[in-house]
Amino acid sequence: MNQAKLHRLLSQKEKNDREQFDQRLATNLTLIQKQFFSLYPEEQHEKHIQKLLKLLPKLFLERPEALRKQDLKRLQSGNWYQSEKLMGMQLYVEHFNKDLKGLKEKIPYFKKLGVNFLHLMPITKRPAGESDGGYAVNSYLEVDRKYGSKEDLLELTTAFRKNGIYLMLDFVVNHTSNEFSWAKKAKKGDKKYQGYYYTYEDLTIPAEFEKTLPEVFPETSPGNFTYIPEMEKWVMTVFNSYQWDLNYTNPQVFLEMLTNLVKLTDMGVDVVRFDALAFLWKKIGTISQNLPEAHNLISLFRMCLQVVAPGSILLAEAIVAPTDIVKYFGEEEKKGNECEVAYNASLMALLWNSIATKKTQLLYKSLMHVPSKPKDCTWINYIRCHDDIGLGYENHLIQELGWNPEMHRKFLLDYYCQRLDWSPAMGMLFMYNPKTGDGRITGSAASLLGLEKAIKTKDEDLLESSVRKIIMLHGITLAFGGIPLIYAGDEIGTLNDYSFQNDVSKKGDGRWVNRPMQDWETISSLANQDSPQSTIFHALQQLIQIRKGNSVFADHNNLQLCHTGNDHIFSFERTQGQNGLLVICNFDENPQVIDSSWVKKLGYFSKGEPLDLVSGEKVGMNSALLELMPYQMLWLMKS
Ligand code: GLC
Repeated sequence: MNQAKLHRLLSQKEKNDREQFDQRLATNLTLIQKQFFSLYPEEQHEKHIQKLLKLLPKLFLERPEALRKQDLKRLQSGNWYQSEKLMGMQLYVEHFNKDLKGLKEKIPYFKKLGVNFLHLMPITKRPAGESDGGYAVNSYLEVDRKYGSKEDLLELTTAFRKNGIYLMLDFVVNHTSNEFSWAKKAKKGDKKYQGYYYTYEDLTIPAEFEKTLPEVFPETSPGNFTYIPEMEKWVMTVFNSYQWDLNYTNPQVFLEMLTNLVKLTDMGVDVVRFDALAFLWKKIGTISQNLPEAHNLISLFRMCLQVVAPGSILLAEAIVAPTDIVKYFGEEEKKGNECEVAYNASLMALLWNSIATKKTQLLYKSLMHVPSKPKDCTWINYIRCHDDIGLGYENHLIQELGWNPEMHRKFLLDYYCQRLDWSPAMGMLFMYNPKTGDGRITGSAASLLGLEKAIKTKDEDLLESSVRKIIMLHGITLAFGGIPLIYAGDEIGTLNDYSFQNDVSKKGDGRWVNRPMQDWETISSLANQDSPQSTIFHALQQLIQIRKGNSVFADHNNLQLCHTGNDHIFSFERTQGQNGLLVICNFDENPQVIDSSWVKKLGYFSKGEPLDLVSGEKVGMNSALLELMPYQMLWLMKS
C-alpha cells in the first residue's frame, strides 16, 4: 500500500487539521528520513534534517485554509486523477488569450469543449530575451508582468476551483535561469550561492563529466558547461547556456526548493509538473539521467509535499526510454510514492511511428515490453505538446522486427521532415546531431498528419484522410486510460506557425513552429462551417462527452492489448465488471479486415450487434470479417 492510501485510511478519523498533519508526518517520517540520509549522510547532515523537520509544520501552517480543506476532501475521495471525467489541454497563456485575465474569460470555451484540466506553460518571471519559453526561471513564484499579477493568478485558480477545472503548473526543478537571485549572487562571487550550482574553477571535472554526458540541444547549446567571466568559473548548463543546473548534493538547495514547491501549490496548483526530473542528480561516468539518487530525491519531495499539501500531486516529465519512465511512479518501497502521473511519451512516439509505417507491430511489441504501472498511478496520454518528438524506441525491439534501428530512425525523420515527396507530413527537423545521426521532429499534429499539405495542394482525398488520422490519434489518447491532454489549437487542427522565424528570441528554437496562436476567428464560426476545423472540433467534442459519460474510461489499470492478426490494426480493451470497451483502429490508408470471431469471443456480440460509440451505429455481424475504413476508429461497447 502506498503512503497516499495510508493517509486516506487514517484521515477518515475525526481529527482536526493540525492533528491530521502530525499524523501524516508520523506516517511518512521513516521514508523521509531514509531518503534524506541516502542523499545527505547522517554524520554530516543532522542539522539539515532538523531544519527540514522545522520547515514542514511551518509550511503547513502557512497553507491557505481553503486549500487545507480541499486537501482533506481529496484525501477522502479517492484518486481524482484517474477519473474518466478528466480532459486536459496545454497552452501558452500569451498564445491563447493574451494573459491570465484573458484566460479566465475563456472558461466557457473549455466547458463547451469539455476541457477541465489545464496545463499552463510557465508564467513566472524569466529573462527578457531567450528564456526557453519561460523554462529559464528568474523566480519560482512571481508572475511575469506580461501575464498579469499574483492576484490575477489567485483569481483564476479560485475561478477554476468553482468551475471544477484542475490546474497544472511547472516546477522547473532542475535549473534556474542565469538571472535568478542565486545565480546573480554566485556571479558576484558569493561562495554560498556558487555552491547552489555545479561550479568549477577549470575544466578538469567538466571534462570528466563530458565523457559520458549527452547533449540536449547540440545545435544551439553544445556541451554541458558554460564559462561565466564575472565569476571566472564554469557552471553546468545541461540545457541552454542560460539555464544553470541546481546542485542537489547540497541539502540547502533541497530545502529551499521544497519551500518553493509548497508555495507553488499554495497558489491553488493541483498538479505540479516536475520538469526535466530525470536530470536531477549528476554523477561522473554516467549519462546523469534516471540515477537512483534522482529517484530518492523525487520521492523525498513527494513524501514531504504529501505531509504538507496532500491534495496536490506530481507529474513526471521524463521523456526517457519506456522502461525508465515507469520507474518515476516509484519502485519497491518507493512504489506509488514518487509521481502519481507521468507523460506517456512512449505511446506518443509509437503512435507517430505507426502513422509513418502504417503498421502497428512496434507499438504492440513496445507496449508489451513496458512493465505495468502501480494501480494508483496514471498516464497523461497525448500526441503533441510544446516540445519536439523524440524517437525514443528500444533498438532491440526494432531489430526484432528485422529493421535496422539507425535506418528506421532515418526513415522517420525523412518521412516527417519533408525529405520524401510522397509523404503528407510537413514537420521540421530539430536538433539534428551529425555526430550521432540523431534528430527530433517538430510540427503541429495537423501539419504532421497531412492537413497542411492537403490544404496547400487542394487535395481532397488527403484532406479527408488527414482529418481521420487526427481524430483517430486523439481518440486513442481519450480511450487509453489516464488523462488525455490536447495541445491548444489541435482541437481545430491548427497548422504549423512559421512566424517564429522572424523573432530573434525564438528563431533558434524550431519548437516554436508547434506553438501557434489560438485562432479565435475560426473558432467563432465553427457552428456554421463545413470545414476540416469544424469536423475535428465537433468530433473531439463528441468523443470527450462519450468518455465522460462512461466509467469504463476511468483508469482502473484495466487495459488489455488485443491481437487481431492484422499488422495495420491497433486494438485494446478496457473492462470494468460486466462492462467493456473495445477500441479498434486502422492505421492503413486502405480498408483492412479482421476476423470478427475474436470480437465475438470477447463477448461483444452476446447481446446482439454492438454499438460503435464513435459513429453511433451498430456494427453488423453477418460477415466473418469486420472491415475498417482507412484510419477508422471503432469504440465498441459491451454492457
Ligand atoms: C522540459 C520542457 C522543455 C524545456 C526543458 C528544459 O523538457 O518540456 O520545453 O526546454 O524541460 O527546462
